[in-house]
Amino acid sequence: MSSRDRVLSALRAAVPSGVSGERMARDLGISRAAVAKHVAALKSSGYEIEARVGEGYRLLATPHVASPAEVVPLLTDELWVRVEGGEVTGSTNDDARVLARQGAAEGTVVVASHQTAGRGRLGRDWASPRGGAYLSVILRPAVSLLELSALPLVIAVGVAQGLESLGAAPALKWPNDVELVGRKVAGILVEVSAQSDRPDWVVVGVGLNIADVPEQPNAIGLASVLPHVAPAQAAAAALDGIAASYRRWVELGFAAIEPDFSARHRLAGERVTVRDLTGSVTAEGVVCGIDDLGRLLVEDAHRVRAVAAGEATLSGID
Ligand code: BTN
Repeated sequence: MSSRDRVLSALRAAVPSGVSGERMARDLGISRAAVAKHVAALKSSGYEIEARVGEGYRLLATPHVASPAEVVPLLTDELWVRVEGGEVTGSTNDDARVLARQGAAEGTVVVASHQTAGRGRLGRDWASPRGGAYLSVILRPAVSLLELSALPLVIAVGVAQGLESLGAAPALKWPNDVELVGRKVAGILVEVSAQSDRPDWVVVGVGLNIADVPEQPNAIGLASVLPHVAPAQAAAAALDGIAASYRRWVELGFAAIEPDFSARHRLAGERVTVRDLTGSVTAEGVVCGIDDLGRLLVEDAHRVRAVAAGEATLSGID
């Protein structure tokens, strides 16, 4: 933990009474000037800190952002061993890929509340306005590449369960969209580096809309359903949900996760059209399940087809 984060922890621990600069300097083994410098830096990052002569510092309010300093104190799962990031970055997935290539451990997280070059599935951009919760995690599962194909669904279940812990009622849309009231609240991007048949590392990116995204009418912000949930709370809940779902999958396989996915799957039993990257139709029929590899099972008059990738839409509707 950096000295700045340790000063912040000391201020948090002293709410509501406050703590003197001298006491923090002594407890943290730094000079009083260093304490004052860190307090000034925290103030310029949006922390409201009152300084009173003879009484010390009092933390009055924290910024409404999903920054590492705000997310870390809320995380409970031991999977998360390191949290990097800041208020703004290009893409947390790009940052996590760099860390993964440098050998960062499983459970490393990159979090930001604004991205300037957010990336989505199928080569699309991901609108990442200020005040959102954008996170990427490094995983190193000991599975085959074939088994890995179910991971996006495992993550979607984790994000959904995390949001449920905050009081939301999300639905899932294969393969990995998380929706609230029929609109997309979170998207998931899984990127893999593999040696032969085994992944070396996997970077899972989750973009959680907090405010509505005006340029995307099919998107919704969590705040329109849960206005009192702070972005950092949403990020931490999603991360802890992901950790629980991921661990279950590693231990028991996708068969243990499938019922959790299917129970929330809004395409279950619906007539759908599935299209590939080029927009060509690859399957049409009624969704009759998800198989052990996370493939969508689509039944037409002749057979059941297992679809590994693509974009599924309700036939004749969206
Ligand atoms: C989708 O297209 O539905 C997936 C969107 C994934 C966006 C997230 S935001 C955090 C991470 N960083 C990125 O650049 N993309 C992912």
